[in-house]
Amino acid sequence: MRLLVTGGAGFIGANFVHAAVRERPDADVTVLDALTYAGSRESLATVAADVRVVEGDVADAALVDRLVGEADAVVHFAAETHVDNALAEPEPFLRSNVIGTFTVLEAVRRHGVRLHHVSTDEVYGDLELDGQDRFTESTPYNPSSPYSATKAASDMLVRAWVRSYGVAATISNCSNNYGPFQHVEKFIPRQITNVLTGRRPKLYGAGTNVRDWIHVEDHNRAVWLVLERGTIGRTYLIGADGERDNLSVLKDVLRLMGRDEDDFDHVPDRAGHDARYAIDSTPLREELHWAPKHTDFETGLAETIDWYRANESWWRSMKDGVEATYAERGR
Ligand code: NAD
Ligand code: TYD
Repeated sequence: MRLLVTGGAGFIGANFVHAAVRERPDADVTVLDALTYAGSRESLATVAADVRVVEGDVADAALVDRLVGEADAVVHFAAETHVDNALAEPEPFLRSNVIGTFTVLEAVRRHGVRLHHVSTDEVYGDLELDGQDRFTESTPYNPSSPYSATKAASDMLVRAWVRSYGVAATISNCSNNYGPFQHVEKFIPRQITNVLTGRRPKLYGAGTNVRDWIHVEDHNRAVWLVLERGTIGRTYLIGADGERDNLSVLKDVLRLMGRDEDDFDHVPDRAGHDARYAIDSTPLREELHWAPKHTDFETGLAETIDWYRANESWWRSMKDGVEATYAERGR
């Protein structure tokens, strides 16, 4: 299978490409990535001989048309992804997430190519902090941030292109990922690398917000299943029953790194901060027989900490700049 992976130099995309090279020798992988601040060739260094990397924008219609024309399927990860950046400067999110997805859709429509669109549970907005309910495929869209609004818009475009033009697309909406190669702006890598660089971890607000953590490898195995066996036009929710509040996660990081559990700073809360996300992934489990392999969060977290310790050369050059931006934002 000739696979075009957009955003394959980012966190989840790079892990997807590594897994494809490792486990799918029949897959011929091309990565299309703009190599923004969030993408890095280094993330693909160990598979450089096995994949073709094209540096370019998913909103570049001529380039996307050419690459899609050479592919049997597209897995579309490319997006601007950080909520804090979206709050500070939403425009790139409109361009990459909305126009970028539109551009991919037009190309797969023209060439009759299968598309899997990777999205987030944040499109559903948030749940009550102490509720028992979870997001399902039929939960109404209710995005809170410029990031989630643009991801919601991209999902809507995919649905419309399936219905109106018969595009062969599926969508998945996954919860918060963790694992190797995640940018140090994101919650877990930021705290790990804060400790590793002698900084104190930073918790937004009271840290009561709940995220439903899933290991990136479990997310990507689900993406493969949906790509190969999913029903065209369907949306699949991906989650591993990993609900935890931010304060607990931060304390886990501190404890696993041999620090005092109170050795962190409270910083001002994020505007519009979503209270809780939780995924009901029953259809994925029952219909496609998916189950997460990384079922113990603390083990996965400890392995992730080890990865950041062992791969300082991957993140060190980004760290000071990221923290300078956070400092300007008061966080
Ligand atoms: P990331 O920010 O680590 O990587 C995004 C990649 O896309 C980068 O390599 C970047 O260079 C590339 N990119 C950005 N704009 C581009 C453009 N215009 N053209 C080409 N490439 C461009 O993001 P991630 O965490 O790996 O997320 C990947 C996808 O998964 C996104 O669509 C995101 O919405 C979705 N998702 C992420 C999570 C999560 O927890 N990280 C959860 C659910 C869904
Ligand atoms: P993040 O990794 O930005 O993912 P998202 O906002 O898309 O869920 O943040 C995860 C949670 O951690 C979110 O509730 C905000 C919080 N957070 C902190 O408490 N401190 C931090 O330094 C960061 C980056 C996030």
